Amino acid sequence: MKELTSFEFRQLYLDFFASKDHAIIPSASLIPENDPTVLFTTAGMHPLVPYLLGAKHPEGKRLVNVQKCVRTGDIDEVGDASHLTFFEMLGNWSLGDYFKKESIAYSFEFLTNDKWLGLEKDSLFFTCFEGDEDAPKDTESAAFWMSHGVDESHIYYLGKKDNWWGPAGMTGPCGPDTEIFMDMGGEPCGPGCDPSCSCGKYLEIWNNVFMQYNKKADGTFEPLSQQNVDTGMGLDRTITILQGKSSVYDTDIFVDVLAKIAQLSGKKYDADMDTTKSFRIIADHVRCATFMLGDINGITPSNVDQGYVLRRLIRRAVRFSLRLGIPENSLQKIAQVVIGQFGEVYPEIGRSREHIIKELNLEEGRFQRTIKQGLKEFDKLEARMEGNLISGKDAFRLYDTFGFPIEFTLELAHEKGFEVDQKGFDEAFAKHQEVSGAGADQRFKGGLADNGEATAKLHTATHLMQAALRKVLGEEVAQKGSNITAERLRFDFAFGRKVEKEEQNEVERIVNEAIAAGVDIVCEEMSVEQAKDAGAIGLFDSKYGNVVKVYSIDGYSKEICGGPHANNTSELGRFKIKKEQSSSAGVRRIKAVLIDE
Ligand code: ALA
Repeated sequence: MKELTSFEFRQLYLDFFASKDHAIIPSASLIPENDPTVLFTTAGMHPLVPYLLGAKHPEGKRLVNVQKCVRTGDIDEVGDASHLTFFEMLGNWSLGDYFKKESIAYSFEFLTNDKWLGLEKDSLFFTCFEGDEDAPKDTESAAFWMSHGVDESHIYYLGKKDNWWGPAGMTGPCGPDTEIFMDMGGEPCGPGCDPSCSCGKYLEIWNNVFMQYNKKADGTFEPLSQQNVDTGMGLDRTITILQGKSSVYDTDIFVDVLAKIAQLSGKKYDADMDTTKSFRIIADHVRCATFMLGDINGITPSNVDQGYVLRRLIRRAVRFSLRLGIPENSLQKIAQVVIGQFGEVYPEIGRSREHIIKELNLEEGRFQRTIKQGLKEFDKLEARMEGNLISGKDAFRLYDTFGFPIEFTLELAHEKGFEVDQKGFDEAFAKHQEVSGAGADQRFKGGLADNGEATAKLHTATHLMQAALRKVLGEEVAQKGSNITAERLRFDFAFGRKVEKEEQNEVERIVNEAIAAGVDIVCEEMSVEQAKDAGAIGLFDSKYGNVVKVYSIDGYSKEICGGPHANNTSELGRFKIKKEQSSSAGVRRIKAVLIDE
């Protein structure tokens, strides 16, 4: 097996699939642009849903990339050997092109051929779908593995729980998969020990999904018009195995970041379990926050949606920094190490360096003030306490009203010899979650991508509005973020002051004029250079992508975009701005709707 750095490994994967005629496409944003049902991009396939459903991708039918992903479901597990909030997923796709045979041949070659990873064939195990009422047993995949010399005893059949992937939301593309595992050695932990066992003998390295079904809202599966392949390999996890480490934090991915934390704290990473855990949490959270702040649809800390997750990550990082004795305003120093390390692969974080530093310092400052205020409240509480028990209600009030983390209350109580009614706190907390969680749950209901007509129209309206904003306010207006639901558009753009009411009226007028003119929306594919020459606006940021789609609305707008869009502006109805507000320093936010006429 070759010794690879994570950088070399990432490149090797791209090179391999490029040698098999796959176009290397850039990582999409961490913030799903036209998908209101999820907060973050969680897999490489996520931004490709429209193409898996049949839309034509400008780069062709064979794609490969490394995608930035965030999964925050396990945030409380971060600190152990393997959990991460931010990770990179290597993936290759066939959009209605090759299927099982080639996909398996490519995976096998990449893993075992000496020119690539050169892993021992016998150290690999494979699982295939065992079949049920929705889809047959996948003996085809097993036969393809065996055609490469894999012994039958290394192949297991498992059910939907293990060998079916997707949809990413409630509806959408999905299918049976075949998964590849590395045998880490040692004996099976018991008679039922197979690759799905969590004892650590088998570690999953790659998932090849054969996306040939569309899961519908009623729970049934209909065959897709095309047979796709969607694969995913977690870069962080696989490099841990390739470098022979027992924790992802021991790989080259985290070496520099951990060294920085050691320098700032004057502590050693492996001093004791608590210290190790604090190091890991800070390293993971600061890396994730850096990518969120530096994203092309960059978000800032807030109390809702993505901004809330970001706030939580930063504040947790501060909390564990305090524990290690790291001085104030140090997170940005750790972020700079992350930028230095990943800036070549993800140039957007390098370009956002100043913004990242500023926002981290601001949020740290806010949190420090919260802590000080909380400490004051704690003192008041202490003064009026009669026994030595802090009630759940009081602990919750500190948390809910003053943002004082429960961990701080517990630590202070411990120092002063008080008890905290943790159960009472948990109950108050759960009750609060029930009330405020209802909204969040709604977001996950309607399925993954709403590529319906309503969003397509609002997407077209967004283009018209951006063009009108540039006309009225000047060319400094540039997109900072876009989020579209079936009900409204939300557009963030660089602009230094409030947009006056008259200016808003003028923007509305221009957009409604374009709608009244009944202009066709024309999509053309061209190189980035051609698009620039043609005067298209949009994000010219792709490091790898060459061909882009340009949507033109003659006389009004020309913009690089992935679509989907309406066919003619007359379909849009009447455009109305609902709200204009500040989003963050130098960035305005407009919410607007289309009203059926
Ligand atoms: N989409 C598949 C996964 O995330 C490949 O595992």
